Amino acid sequence: MSHLITYKNITISLSGKSILNIDQLDVAAHQCTLLTGRNGSGKTTLLKIISGLLKPNTANIHYQGLDMSWKQAKPYIQKDIIYLHQQPYLFDASVSDNIAYGLHRLGESKAVARQKVMHALQWADLSHLAHRSAKELSGGEKQRVALTRARILSPQLLLLDEPTASMDTDAKQQTGLLLQRLKSEGVSIIISSHETHTVKHIADHHLHIKDGQLETIEPSTDSDKVSVLKPSKKQSVT
Ligand SMILES: Nc1ncnc2c1ncn2[C@@H]1O[C@H](COP(=O)(O)OP(=O)(O)OP(=O)(O)O)[C@@H](O)[C@H]1O
Ligand SMILES: [Mg+2]
Repeated sequence: MSHLITYKNITISLSGKSILNIDQLDVAAHQCTLLTGRNGSGKTTLLKIISGLLKPNTANIHYQGLDMSWKQAKPYIQKDIIYLHQQPYLFDASVSDNIAYGLHRLGESKAVARQKVMHALQWADLSHLAHRSAKELSGGEKQRVALTRARILSPQLLLLDEPTASMDTDAKQQTGLLLQRLKSEGVSIIISSHETHTVKHIADHHLHIKDGQLETIEPSTDSDKVSVLKPSKKQSVT
C-alpha cells in the first residue's frame, strides 16, 4: 500500500505540557483512517499539525518525493490537505456562494465556478438547498455543505474533526455516504471521532492516541470491540 505522506518525529508542547510525541505517521493513499483518543488526548492538535494549521515543536515530512521540515512543507500541505472543523464556519451567504468561495480565491472564472458548483451540489444531493442562506441550515446540512466546499478544491487528504457529533441518525448516514463517495474518488481521509460505530464501516485503519503516542488498533472479531495491536512508538496506517 502506498503512502500519501509521512510525518516523522512530531512533537508539540502547549503551555509547557507535552501533548504529542509521535515517531512516525504514514498516511495511506486513497484510504480512510479513524483516529480516536480520550478528550484532550491530542486528536485536534494532531489534525491541525497534519494540515499545516498548527506549528509543532518538531516534525519532518516526506511528501511527493521530498524530505522537508514542517515549515518547508507548509505551503504544499496547506494546498493539498483540508481540515474540517466539527462546526464548520459558513459565510452569511447562500449555499452556492459558500461552495464557490474557494474557487473564486483560486482565480477561477465566474462561468467555470458556476458550473463546478452546480456539479458539486448534485454530487452532494444538495441542489434543493442551493439558494438557501447557509446560516439557516441544520448542523447536518452545514457539515455536508462544508464537505462539498472542501471537495471542490480537490484535496489529496481530508481531515474531519468529529464530523458526526450531535447529528441524528439520518444526518450521520448522509455524511457517511458522502465520505464513501469521496473515498471511492481516491481522496485520502482521516476522521477523528468518539463514535467509532458510526464511521467504522468507512475506515480501513484505526489509530488511537494514548499518552501522546499513536497505537494501531485492529478490529476484533467482536464488531463492537477493538484490541490494541502494537503499542510501539512507530506506527503506520497501511
Ligand atoms: N492553545 C492551547 N494552549 C494550551 N493547551 C492547549 C491548547 N490547545 C489544546 N491544548 C491542550 O492540548 C491537549 C490536547 O487538546 P486537543 O484539543 O488536541 O484534544 P482532543 O483529543 O481533540 O480532545 P476532544 O476529544 O475533547 O476534542 C488538551 O490537554 C488541551 O487542553
Ligand atoms: Mg478535538
